[in-house]
This record gives sequence, C-alpha cells and structure tokens, in this order.
Amino acid sequence: MRTTLVRVLLAGLCVAAIGCSKKGGGEGAGAGEIVIGEYGSLSGENAAFGTSSANGAAIAFDEINAAGGVLGKKVRVVTEDNQSKTEQVTTIVKKLINQDKAVAILGEVASSRSMAGSAVCEEAQIPMVSPSSTNQYVTVDKRTGLVKPYTFRVCFIDPFQGTVMARFAHGNQKYTKVAILYDVKQDYSTGLKQYFEEEFKKLGGEIVATESYTGGDTDFRAQLTSIKNANSAAIFIPGYYNDAGNIARQARSLGLTQQFLGGDGWSDPGLFPLGGDAIEGTCISDHYSAENPDPVVQNFVTQYKQRFNQVPSGLSACAYDAAKILCDAIQRAGSTQPNAIASALAATQNFKGATGNISINELHNAVKPITVVTCANGAFKYVTTINP
Ligand code: PHE
Repeated sequence: MRTTLVRVLLAGLCVAAIGCSKKGGGEGAGAGEIVIGEYGSLSGENAAFGTSSANGAAIAFDEINAAGGVLGKKVRVVTEDNQSKTEQVTTIVKKLINQDKAVAILGEVASSRSMAGSAVCEEAQIPMVSPSSTNQYVTVDKRTGLVKPYTFRVCFIDPFQGTVMARFAHGNQKYTKVAILYDVKQDYSTGLKQYFEEEFKKLGGEIVATESYTGGDTDFRAQLTSIKNANSAAIFIPGYYNDAGNIARQARSLGLTQQFLGGDGWSDPGLFPLGGDAIEGTCISDHYSAENPDPVVQNFVTQYKQRFNQVPSGLSACAYDAAKILCDAIQRAGSTQPNAIASALAATQNFKGATGNISINELHNAVKPITVVTCANGAFKYVTTINP
C-alpha cells in the first residue's frame, strides 16, 4: 500500500488569499499555486531518509511561502512514499507528474532510487533535483557518458567522497591496512567502495579484506569474523545508517575494536539509537555540520529544532537547499515551463545554502567541500572540512 501525504503548506493562507484548487495543480489547474512533487523513503528500511528530507524541505517551502511564494504563487508540495523500494519509484514519480501535474520533482536520497526517478523525469522532460544522491551516474548516463538534461543535484559526488575518505584514512589517521564491508544492493555503496579502494591503494595502503552484505540483512557475523582475522586498522563501511548501526554493534560484540569509517550514508539521527556505544568515534564524510556558525546554517538549525525537536542531519540540510534552489530557479526562469526551469537550474551559481555555496557544474553536480564529522555521545561533531 502506498501512502499519499499531501501537505498543503500554509493552507489557510493559500485558500483565503487566492482560493487555489486543492486537487490537480500545476499551472493548468489552480492558477494560484505551483505544484512540486517529492518522492522519498518515508517507510521501510530507510524510513529516516524520507522523513529527514521531507522535514528539511518543509522548512524551505514554508520560508518561501511566507515570503510570498514563487512567481507570486504559493508552492504546494505533494509527497509520495516509495517504502524504501526502488521498484516503487517509477509508479510514484509518474503519478506526481501525470496526476498531480508537478512542474518539478524533488528526490531521492538513495542513489539507486534517484536513478529510477530520473529515468521517468527524463522521459517526461520534467526537471528533477536530488538533494543528496551522490553516485556519479545519477546525473550522467552510464552508457553514453552524457549529462541527463533534466536531472540535477545539490550535493557532491562519490568519486570525490571516496577519495576524501581514503585520504583521511591514510593521511590523517595513518592507517595502512583497511577492511571494507559494503552493500551490494545499492549503487551508492558499490560506487563509493570502488573510489575509496582506488585512492587508498594509490596512496600505498592495503585493503586486507573485502566483504559484502545486502541492505536490510540482520546478521553480519560471518563477514565480520573474516574481517577480524584480517587484522585491519579500520573498517570502511560505505552503507546506510540502518545497516551500519547493526554492523557496528555486532562487530563490537565479536570483539572487533577497529575504528569505523563511513560515508554520508551514515548521516541520519536514526543511526544513534541503532549504533549506541558501538559507533562512538566513527568518522564519516558529510554534507554539513550543524555546528557551523554561518548564519544560513544557524537559521536552518534553529527552525528545524523548534519544529522537529532534533538537530538536522546533513541530509535534511541538503533537502532544505534542494527545495530552495529549485524555487530560486523557477523564480529566475520566470515561468513553470520545464525547459526554462531546467536551464535556470543549470545556471545556478553561488547559491548560499545550509550545505555551503552551491554552483551547478556542466555535469549538473554541485561542487562544494566535504565536512568530516565524528559520532560522539549521540551527535555528529565537526572534525574538518576538505575542499574539492
Ligand atoms: N549519498 C547517499 C546515496 O547516494 C544518500 C545519503 C545522503 C544518505 C545523505 C544519507 C545522507 O545513496
């Protein structure tokens, strides 16, 4: 069963001021509103991804609507849940485009699901912005190497993330032997594993064990036992928070004491209850730090905490930026015409977001620094910033 969440932002204001339609949307239906479709994992294995993203985006849309909306119209967001299943994405994104008449789409977090959504958007020629999918082939066609004209993202990509974490492991932490445990089900994980490995070896390091799992597995003891016998100084786990938390706990209970290293996939508050003490000291690459004193970051963090009673993760910050950049592009385009929005997105330069200064390059990626954070007492603490 699919859950449909239709959030009419500032509904009262919208209806009172312009009597906008509640059904349909897009330019055709209610002239008083602009419909943006959002798809995400609001339930299932990676449920925190969808929730954290929708929350981050909601703050942006509320700010935008409170300031008068876009092109003088209120923005209405229609959010759909794909239950953390890649195979659900096609139907959902088609529904957002065809039924809800969304002029643009926001989503997803997991790269595999963004790729599935992007295929639909490219076919329909509707712009899509992924807040936080980092696999290289989200915006670029793997087969042709050509940029996908309607697909954009506001985050860095895994070739950079993998390289940075390999340098962090080798250079900062002085590790020469690392083991890898990755998720064969996720394009994100297989890609990040590859880039980490390439760079770590190039630096003279050795990968002493490589083990894999399938996202959602619950027993990692066989793989962890092989890793234990390989005597590495650290374990790189390019997976998602839900599996990472379980892996960390099982590793500690088997007596593994190595430091864990991870990518942005760990970056969700859902990690802490799962990982408990086992993840203490883990270092991961992330999209921002809530401790950054920059006023854009602090405004976002304050609003998020007030509303959701939680410190926003990197992925919430990315969703906030994605929503803002999309609305900014529609405003600059001067129209909700998909080609005009796509051109404006491609022309995004120096947008001041919560995750840094965002410029979209020719491959529709954002070029920006990586923040390394560590897990300390149930929160992500700032370690260092690494520039592209
Ligand atoms: N970058 C991950 C991917 O591409 C998704 C992710 C981003 C997960 C941020 C957590 C936080 O699949």
